Amino acid sequence: MASRDISKLPVGDHSAKQAKAEHARLHAELIEHDRRYYQHDAPTITDAEYDALRRRYGEIEQRFPDLRTLESLTLKVGVAPTGRFAKIRHAVPMLSLDNAFSDEDVTRFVERIRRFLKLSADEPLAFSAEPKIDGLSISLRYENGTLINAATRGDGTVGEDVTANIKTLKDVPQQLKGKTIPAVAEVRGEVYMTKADFLALNERQKAAGKELYINPRNTAAGSLRQKDAAITASRPLRFFAYSWGQMSAMPAETHSGMLKWLERCGLPTNPLSKLCRSAEELLAFHHEIGLARAQLDYDIDGVVYKVDRLDWQERLGFVSRSPRWAIAHKFPAEQATTLLKDIEIQVGRTGALTPVAKLEPVGVGGVIVQNASLHNADEIARLDVRIGDTVTIQRAGDVIPQVLGVVLEKRPKGAKPYVFPKTCPCPLHTPVVREINSAGEEGVRFRCSGEFACPFQKTEHLKLFVSRGAFDIDGLGEKQIDYFFEQGWIKEPADIFTLEARNGKQFRLEEVEGYGPTSVGNLFAAIRGRREISLERFIYALGIRHVGETTARALARGYGTWQAFHDAALAVADGDDEARTEMDALDQIGDTVIDALAAYFKEKHNRGVVERLTKQVHIQEAEKPARDTAVAGKTVVFTGSLEKMTREEAKAMAERLGAKTSGSVSKKTDYVVAGPGAGSKLDKAREAGVAVLTEDEWLELVGKK
Ligand code: IVH
Repeated sequence: MASRDISKLPVGDHSAKQAKAEHARLHAELIEHDRRYYQHDAPTITDAEYDALRRRYGEIEQRFPDLRTLESLTLKVGVAPTGRFAKIRHAVPMLSLDNAFSDEDVTRFVERIRRFLKLSADEPLAFSAEPKIDGLSISLRYENGTLINAATRGDGTVGEDVTANIKTLKDVPQQLKGKTIPAVAEVRGEVYMTKADFLALNERQKAAGKELYINPRNTAAGSLRQKDAAITASRPLRFFAYSWGQMSAMPAETHSGMLKWLERCGLPTNPLSKLCRSAEELLAFHHEIGLARAQLDYDIDGVVYKVDRLDWQERLGFVSRSPRWAIAHKFPAEQATTLLKDIEIQVGRTGALTPVAKLEPVGVGGVIVQNASLHNADEIARLDVRIGDTVTIQRAGDVIPQVLGVVLEKRPKGAKPYVFPKTCPCPLHTPVVREINSAGEEGVRFRCSGEFACPFQKTEHLKLFVSRGAFDIDGLGEKQIDYFFEQGWIKEPADIFTLEARNGKQFRLEEVEGYGPTSVGNLFAAIRGRREISLERFIYALGIRHVGETTARALARGYGTWQAFHDAALAVADGDDEARTEMDALDQIGDTVIDALAAYFKEKHNRGVVERLTKQVHIQEAEKPARDTAVAGKTVVFTGSLEKMTREEAKAMAERLGAKTSGSVSKKTDYVVAGPGAGSKLDKAREAGVAVLTEDEWLELVGKK
């Protein structure tokens, strides 16, 4: 049989096996070229040849996404072998800015610059005025237009190498665009998370019964400093460029010119930046941005003014660690002090207890605040907040305000340390238990041990059940759920669908205040309309811990039908190892979710709830699995005896991943997976030139190894 040179084949013609081999070859070759280029400054191929190799490597990954492991060159650069972040010494230190808090500070700043530069009164002096983004600063090093590394600010001299993580940001180009690209260009700017993305992320945390993040800044910082770049990739981080470090050539003579150049390079710059020509114009800008602040989709904590002419910046130089040519004009912090009237314990769907500060209403940054988060029992102990205390609160962005600390001088005599309740505030007063995580360590949260009996948990679940991502029933919101539950008309999800039949017998909804024949008719119509439901919504609506909308979708796609999912979940709950391994093979599904599903379906109570509910609704089949698995649309034949799974199991897995399975080899067959003892089918495959895989190679191909 003639062996074809896979390095000459077009990417689209590779079989999975060939693609894998070619990808590995390119990987090794690119690493060697990188070494020659960066470490020895002695490339042996031209840039265009290098780019072509890199493109081919990327295209193979695009066709076979499973090849894009964390080892991939498209993701990984510069992570130290210890798993800690490597250090990067900044070629030019990353400094900080002096602050101005008042209008006078700004006038003085402008006057000092004029004096320093000996400018006459009529000599124009322009500033670039920009929002001060509340994120974390990053330095991106581009050499000949290619992103080489990315470092955090660190102590200003040495930062951490977060290249792999930064490369997952869509805002950061791997390659600068445009004609004027200096050999070395260090771009600096801020990584941040939008308020909307932050809130959505917290929604997902909430749906999964997980701890909420505190604010966008900390979340962005935490997301970037992940050892696993895949986690960073899953967090929506953004970037604004506003400065630079080492530059082998300057593409502009002014700061504003540099911002335009950064933009031409394909880097996002802040659209609100503006040239100002006097202290008055700077103050007007500060005022204008201050007004717009609440509507911006990202947090800012002030504005920055920078002398526009770079030659003047150079003359002005630095005072200790801040430039004399720039200043940050801060906004008053969105903080206030007020009286803590009480601490209320709220119970979530999964029974987690969250302490909430009930405050004397106070205005903070334009809104009246009367509740603030205290996060958990440990946080209360750390702050030592006591009922009756005067507390400082802060509102960061649109986020739930937080209690920052206590004004001790105002503590009333006799205020007692807060004792976290030992029982749930629900009418059952069941004991609370400290959460133990999967590693067996104590978590920060307490949970109500009442589980299915706890009315608070029940209503929280019902609220999730009717919420937007779940059954989304018009006219049945949180308020109605509370009311129907109190009346005893809806105790569990199935009851929603029997409401209409029971109306007029157990109760007359038309006679309830706020309802009339029309609204009752509409409500029942909305409920009827939801008897037909997608599998992903149905799974999400069950309110299983750690099963948010995304996870529910992954499960729905993975199993296709309720029957298949339900069988698998029950098997997993039963301790069936095979079912567990299969579930684990699904994209995005891991131990946490599987444990949660097992725990849920182990409970007789839950099984009852599900059984009664499934009698009321029709669950649609899920969309066909996403095409982006390595075997989607392929035809596979299994032959011989497999060692790690039965043939049935192997076929089921292949089908879940979007492949077709067949009993006989033909020209249409893409892969033959042959185990020991394979006979005629293997021969036929070889004759027909069909790719033959071992069981291990197959598992690797589908990402199960
Ligand atoms: S210029 C020499 N411009 O504020 C200093 N900084 O307090 C160059 N920041 O570390 C920084 N937005 O993280 C500059 N438009 C902006 C900024 C900005 C946010 C941050 C940056 C810096 C800190 C200084």
